[in-house]
This record gives sequence, C-alpha cells and structure tokens, in this order.
Amino acid sequence: MRNINYDNITDTVVQAYSGTSDERLREILTMLIPRLHDFVRDIKLTPQEWEAAMEFLLRAAKASSDQRNEFILLSDLLGVSGLVDLIDGHNDDGASMTTLLGPFYVPGQPDKDAGADLIKDNPGERVLVQGQVRSANGGPLAGAVLEIWQNGPNGLYTVQDPGQPDDNLRCTLHADADGNYSFSTVKPVSYTIPDDGAGGELVRAAGRHCWRPAHIHVMVSADGHKRHVSQIFDVNDPYIDEDSVFGVRADLAVPFDGEPSEAVLERFPHIQRPFNVVNMDFVLAKTE
Ligand code: BEZ
Ligand code: FE
Repeated sequence: MRNINYDNITDTVVQAYSGTSDERLREILTMLIPRLHDFVRDIKLTPQEWEAAMEFLLRAAKASSDQRNEFILLSDLLGVSGLVDLIDGHNDDGASMTTLLGPFYVPGQPDKDAGADLIKDNPGERVLVQGQVRSANGGPLAGAVLEIWQNGPNGLYTVQDPGQPDDNLRCTLHADADGNYSFSTVKPVSYTIPDDGAGGELVRAAGRHCWRPAHIHVMVSADGHKRHVSQIFDVNDPYIDEDSVFGVRADLAVPFDGEPSEAVLERFPHIQRPFNVVNMDFVLAKTE
C-alpha cells in the first residue's frame, strides 16, 4: 500500500474495508466509497473546499446536543430523510403515505380516549380531527395508539418553549373498538425549522427559506403493523408547496376548514363553538 496514486486509491480503500464483518455494513461501505470518490473526482474538490466542508460539519456537531441533532436536520434539508422514508414505504401496498418524524417528538405523553380535548387555554381556530385507523390488508384496527404532537399558536413546540406545559397539544390517543379516533385542538401554524446552526447556513446559502407548512404530527402503532409516522398538513397553508424539509405528501394535505355536520355537532357537545373539521384516515402496513 505504499504506491497509492490517483488511479488506484479508490480500489485500495475499498479493499481495505472488504473484511468488514457485518454484512450490511460491508455492502454499504463497498458502494459508498467508490461513489464518494467519484463525486470528489468529478467535482474536482479543492483542498480549500474540503477544509470548508470539514469546518461546516464541525459547526453542525457543535450545534448538536442531547436535545438537538443538527445532522438529522441537514439530512432533512437535503431530502435524504424524505427519500429513506419513501423507500421504506415503497412496498407497503395499500398503506397510507408516511413522512418525517422531525425532532420534536416526546414519548410517554398522557393517555386519552377518542374525543379528547387538547384545546385547554390555547387561543386559535378550533378544529376537530377525526378518522379511522385500518390495516392495509384488513379491517379497522381496534385500540390503535396515536401519539399526537403539534406546535402552539406562537409557532413553538413545548420542547422549545418553557412557557408551555410539557404536555401542551400532545397526547397518546387510543382509537375505539372500530378503529375510530377523534380529538379537538387548535389549528397549528406554519413555523421555521431551527435556523441558528449549520442547517440555517445551508438554507441561506441556497437562498431558500426555513418555513414548514402548518401540520399536526401523528405516529400510529398497532400490533402486527409497521410504526406509521405521519403528519396532517393544512392544504391551504401558504408554504404547502415549498416545505423546507420536503415532508409534504399529497395524500396528507387536507382542508382544515370543513364544516361540522349536525351529527358531529351533536356527538361533540363539549367542543366550544365554532369549530371546523379535519378528516384523515390512517392505513397501516402489516409487518412481514
Ligand atoms: C417537524 O415537523 O417538526 C420538523 C421536521 C423536520 C425538521 C424540523 C422540524
Ligand atoms: Fe413539526
């Protein structure tokens, strides 16, 4: 290995990793290394550019902590997180589209039954979100668990805002015996992703913006089914076609201004009037 040169360096490096014992890791490295080298060759990366890239990654590391992973944000901003999710769902015939988890999920939120009211003291337009959880190959999923989180009217999630109770606009909702779920909440608002780190630098360098269209996060679990990570987007949000992290899927963008029917008004006497209705069903893929 003492005669490394421009022509043999790639094969030499691939060979050096060929003994990787984990089969999948070996496969990844064997494909990654030549592609990475091809990229560096094709773009003719200069030492100055390489140093700038290393400094950029160092800034991403420094912006990261137990509460914040700037590398996930960079993956989101470059569409890699979205692509990984689309590949994972590619063969889930009949299942609903899934999308990004995002950084603001907190497990273990209070348990609530269908019909839960999350509005409490939050100002804003009231909405009832309702639908059914079903299996891709079968019927309703009784007792499916829906973990729900969204931002407050000030655009911030609880984990970003000490002014909000930890469980504000969050819960662990249990669907009923027919797989039906419902909860009342306030309409979420569009917001900017954290832009004070390397991710923000990237967005500004590209002349993009950091906005995400308003959405409610829902993660659905049911025995024998893949964990289903979703977001319900307001189809009329001004940023619906320019999500900074490429998370919108057409089937997940729905109106947040549906008129409640008489039957709905009768079934939900406790929700303060007026309120609108958002409909979203979730169809989960079976585990193999
Ligand atoms: C979110 O929806 O919470 C989110 C997703 C990706 C990056 C930042 C935020
Ligand atoms: Fe979000």
